[in-house]
Amino acid sequence: VRHLIDPLDLSVSEIDDLLNLADDISAHPQKYAHACDGKKLATLFYEPSTRTRLSFETAMLNMGGSVMGFHSASTSSATKGESVADTIRVVSCFADICAMRHPKEGAPRRAAHFSKIPVINAGDGGHQHPTQTLTDLMTIRCKKSRLHDLTIGLCGDLKFGRTVHSLIKSLARYSGIRFILISPEELRVPGYIIDEVLRPQNIPFQEVRSLDEVLPKLDILYMTRVQKERFFNEEDYVRLKDSYVLTAEKMKAAKPDMYVLHPLPRVNEISLDVDDDPRAAYFDQVQNGVYVRQALILRLLGVKLPC
Ligand code: CP
Repeated sequence: VRHLIDPLDLSVSEIDDLLNLADDISAHPQKYAHACDGKKLATLFYEPSTRTRLSFETAMLNMGGSVMGFHSASTSSATKGESVADTIRVVSCFADICAMRHPKEGAPRRAAHFSKIPVINAGDGGHQHPTQTLTDLMTIRCKKSRLHDLTIGLCGDLKFGRTVHSLIKSLARYSGIRFILISPEELRVPGYIIDEVLRPQNIPFQEVRSLDEVLPKLDILYMTRVQKERFFNEEDYVRLKDSYVLTAEKMKAAKPDMYVLHPLPRVNEISLDVDDDPRAAYFDQVQNGVYVRQALILRLLGVKLPC
C-alpha cells in the first residue's frame, strides 16, 4: 500500500506525472467523472479545515466516489481515548483511501504503519502538508510555466508553517531555485530545514527581516498566516501577528510577472485590495487543489485511467 506522508515520498518524476494528470483533469473533467465509481474516501480531521477537507471530498465526489469521516476529534472516539492506530484499523474496514489531519506531528505516519489503505497526510501539526505543496507546485507551474530557475520568497510564520516546510523540501529538488526566507527572528524556518534540506544540496538561500527590501527580486511571493493556534502565549502572538501586511501599494514594487501565493486562510497579511491584482494567485490555488487531489487519489488507488 502506497501512502503520502512527506513530500519526499514522491520522486520528482512522480510529482511531474501528478501535475500533468491534474492538468488533464482540469481540461477534461468529464473524462474522470466515473473513474472512482464505488470507491470510498474517509476524511479523518482531528483539526479544523475548510479547503483541504472540502477539496478532498470534492475530488472524490467529482470522480463518482463517496465520502465519509469526522471533522473534529470531538465527534470521533478519540474523545474516549481511542488511539490513531486503532482508529485506522477500523477505518481500513470501511474505506478505500483516507486523508488525515492531526495536530500531532507524525500522527499520519503512525496511522500509515497500521493501515491497510493508502493514508494521505492532510497536515500534521507544524510539520508537513504535502498535498498543499502539490497545489502550490501546480499553481507555480501554471503561472510561470516552469518549476526551475525561480527566486521564491516565503514570508511570515516560517517556523510553524507546515506548508512552507513541505514546499521548500519539494522545490529544493528543482534546479536553479533560490529561497529568500522572510520572517521575524522568532518565526525563522526550523534548523532541520536548513541543515538537512538546504545546506546539503547547496541551495542558495538568505534569511531576512524586511519584505520591502527583497520584494523586487522575487518571482513568487508565498505569504503565510501567523498561526495563533501554534503559540503557547497570547502576548507573543499579538506582538507578531501583523509583522507583514501585503497591500496593493506595496505590490507596485514587485515584478509585473511575480505571483502571490498563500495556502489560506488569511487574516491580515494580504490586504483585500490585492485580490483584484492579476498577480494574486491564492484563489487559483484553491481550485488547483481539487485537481491535484483527484490525480493523487487516482494514482494511490491504482485506478486505470480513462482514455
Ligand atoms: N490550506 C489549508 O490547509 O487550508 P485549511 O486549513 O482550510 O484546510
